[in-house]
Amino acid sequence: MDTRWVVFIFSLLSATCGWAEKQRKFKDDFLFGVSTSAYQIEGGWNEDGKGESIWDHHLHKHPEVVIDFVNGDVACDSYHLYKRDVEMLRELGVDFYRFSISWSRVLPTGLPNTINEAGFAYYDNLIDELLKYNIIPMVTLYHFELPQRLQLLGGWSNPLSVQWFQDYAGQVFKRYANKVKYWITINQPSVCMEPYAPPALGDEDAVGAYICVKHILLAHAAAYRLYEKEYKKKYKGQVGISLSLNLYDPVDNRTESEEAAERARQFASGLYLNPIWSKEGGFPSVVKELVAKVSKKEGFPKSRLPEFTEEENKALKGSADFLGMNHYTTFLVYPESEKNVGELWYIGDLDVRITRGEKWEEAMSPWLKSAPYGLYKACLYLNKHYDYPQIIITEHGWSTDTGLNDTGRITVMKEYFKALLLAIEDGTEVKGYSYWSLMDNLEWISGIMERFGLYEVDFHSENKTRTARKSALFYKHTIEKKIIDESWDIDDKDFKIEISDRRMKKKKDEL
Ligand code: NOJ
Repeated sequence: MDTRWVVFIFSLLSATCGWAEKQRKFKDDFLFGVSTSAYQIEGGWNEDGKGESIWDHHLHKHPEVVIDFVNGDVACDSYHLYKRDVEMLRELGVDFYRFSISWSRVLPTGLPNTINEAGFAYYDNLIDELLKYNIIPMVTLYHFELPQRLQLLGGWSNPLSVQWFQDYAGQVFKRYANKVKYWITINQPSVCMEPYAPPALGDEDAVGAYICVKHILLAHAAAYRLYEKEYKKKYKGQVGISLSLNLYDPVDNRTESEEAAERARQFASGLYLNPIWSKEGGFPSVVKELVAKVSKKEGFPKSRLPEFTEEENKALKGSADFLGMNHYTTFLVYPESEKNVGELWYIGDLDVRITRGEKWEEAMSPWLKSAPYGLYKACLYLNKHYDYPQIIITEHGWSTDTGLNDTGRITVMKEYFKALLLAIEDGTEVKGYSYWSLMDNLEWISGIMERFGLYEVDFHSENKTRTARKSALFYKHTIEKKIIDESWDIDDKDFKIEISDRRMKKKKDEL
């Protein structure tokens, strides 16, 4: 029999018997991107008038906190190599590039009395280079880097930080509102709760952590309201916030486990979602109750968790045009607490123990394991509890060792894309997806040991040579075809990526 007939009959049978998995597709207007952040890639830490940031300061003073003693002084040297970065984006064919502005590069003291033109010139050039190739800039205003001068004034624990951030945002909006349509105010406000990162550093009893949460959220709202008032009507841009939205799932089906998982969700994400996306606003009631209880036990006359005033609540409610979702993994939650979990401070307040699926694939980062179902479940949870928010996946990624043949990363990407398409099919409003990261970079205190890049960076070479990994080609193919192509493969040796300028073709079609 003619082979075409065999194929035809087989497809017919598979379709009728449901043998073949349904081929799901990303919609034509779905946006694909890649993400980076200033401290992790730029380098040029004190060039052309840049001020010191908390990370510059911290890693200069304490090089030992980073596993391999590297820091962001040079990083990927994107301060000088941004044209190569844009070339890589053209190779990948992405729709958008999510990068962050270093506050102390443009306002060296953090305050708007000194504006560093040379610092702004760097971002002018980067944005213009992106627009030249029709790549959409998505700008994060704060990705963990407070100007050190402001840290000396108390950083995010000073209530004036809300005004400082609004003033900084105002300068950036004024300069780029006509060119940038996607804004992320704050990346992962939960950084306030991470013991290793400034500004929480030294705040052993988690007093400053919750104050930081309050102010960083108010700072977000202040920037959102400013854009809304001054620029929204004219430029029609969108302003969102990116939250760390990993899934906290019960370890088993005991009621206590589900309750513990819900507590963990409220501490890890409800704390930030509730003030903006819930009807009642403010911090979640379970967090309020628990922190009050533990604070009392610790001898505090009042809860360590501050409250919002009516007016603050009003500013926060609805203060986002989209929810930036940073999703990497799933944690399994036991109801029993364990003292020295050591991972997250607020564990003491929330009384749970966390584990991971034993069989889940492990990345190079010890905290990162693959559990694609978690992305699906996290999306459905958001829909149910926060009424179908508009989502952009602003980060998702996988770390490996060095090496170009990263088939493990490709498998993870495929599985997570499948989960994402299912979540979309089941009603989740997802407008775009951004892979973390365009290239290997400084993974904070893990240095350059955990490699998240679609491009490998040779940090020892003078030009910080970037070379496409196999996953870069897989991502390019996915973006082009908008499907998850199970049969995709290329020769393991000798693969090459070429500029396709997909977005330029798109522009021509639109004209
Ligand atoms: C989230 C953070 O935004 C980013 O800076 C970090 O590198 C990635 N997670 C990977 O850990």
